[in-house]
Amino acid sequence: MRRNPSIKLLLSALLLMAGAACDAAHDSHDSAGARAWPQPDPATLADGPHKQAVLYGEALIRRTYAFVGPNAADANMRYAGNNLACGSCHLDGGRRRYALSLIGAADAYPRNMARENAVQTLAQRINGCFERSMNGRALPANSPEMAAMIAYIRFLSDAAPAHMDGRGVPSTPLMNRAADPRRGAEVYASTCAVCHGANGQGARNEGGQGYLYPPLWGPDSFNSGAGMHRIIAAANFIHANMPYGVTYESPRLTEEEAFDVAAFINVQPRPQRAGLDRDYPDRTRKPVDAPFPPYADHFSQRQHTFGPWREMMHAREAQR
Ligand code: HEC
Ligand code: HEC
Repeated sequence: MRRNPSIKLLLSALLLMAGAACDAAHDSHDSAGARAWPQPDPATLADGPHKQAVLYGEALIRRTYAFVGPNAADANMRYAGNNLACGSCHLDGGRRRYALSLIGAADAYPRNMARENAVQTLAQRINGCFERSMNGRALPANSPEMAAMIAYIRFLSDAAPAHMDGRGVPSTPLMNRAADPRRGAEVYASTCAVCHGANGQGARNEGGQGYLYPPLWGPDSFNSGAGMHRIIAAANFIHANMPYGVTYESPRLTEEEAFDVAAFINVQPRPQRAGLDRDYPDRTRKPVDAPFPPYADHFSQRQHTFGPWREMMHAREAQR
């Protein structure tokens, strides 16, 4: 059950052409990159309970709101607090390179995570996104839904090449100045608002469930504890993937524009998560762009949030 992305792709293709950058050299480069990145297809699996779990897992990731969203038919199943899908950020159901791809993610867990300063299972990592990106509550580890999402991520990961370059998001070189929400407002108005709305509210799917274009702030967005609420993390995602349809190899925004628009989104209202001071109990492992105190260094909350970050990173290296 895949959502048809044709409307999105058509609109983004038109916008990209209007934006100028469409030379043949880039096109051939892109398709070579896309070929190299695996596209595992559950249709190839033998019929049976495993295939069913993988397909249910994929549906949960692409249309999260329909099964566990705040308006899910079964009130007991309302685990997500917003109507995003996991696939709003993990693009193409977690299959797109440099777009928080889930290919390879199953092999990365359990691992010791800085946010908890403890070993986390894949189920716990998924629940991190439920509680923050989805502004909801944790799914029981033994639920069929958790098992299905893990089966799907495991299925994707079985196709991962030995040397992976493309999970997560690539790092965008840091600026020497602070990210500037006022400049970001101009980038937003000229490049993002056409899809995500003048007020960041996004646009609903045809049926009214979920989003064709997800909200970037406001009550139905990710909360203040989400990874996307860190400016470096958001700028990395935006530079490689937005406006929708660009690739890491041929971005549309300059690096500065990506940081500035991330800063603009960061200062907008969104659900607040309580207890963020308890994240990163080992403060020396806290990402420099974490926008909430306490910190292990003397840099201000403002500088942690907006940068410039280079000197912070150097200071941290010197500490080690
Ligand atoms: C608002 C964007 C957003 C949404 C929605 C979202 N995530 Fe994430 N997710 C992220 C970001 C950003 C990271 C990387 C976080 C970091 O930098 O620590 C991540 C990381 C992960 C990881 C670890 C990946 C790895 O390579 O280590 C998994 C697994 C994951 N998310 C699953 C999910 C699932 C399942 C859902 C839906 C229930 C979901 N996410 C919804 C943004 C999102
Ligand atoms: C052509 C339409 C389009 C444009 C223009 C566009 N986006 Fe998106 N954006 C999308 C779609 C579609 C998704 C979600 C993908 C999905 O659901 O499959 C998305 C997802 C996102 C996400 C992650 C999901 C979330 O809710 O946080 C962020 C952040 C984002 N866009 C930021 C931007 C920024 C910043 C710009 C301007 C530089 C921009 N987008 C321009 C269509 C667009």
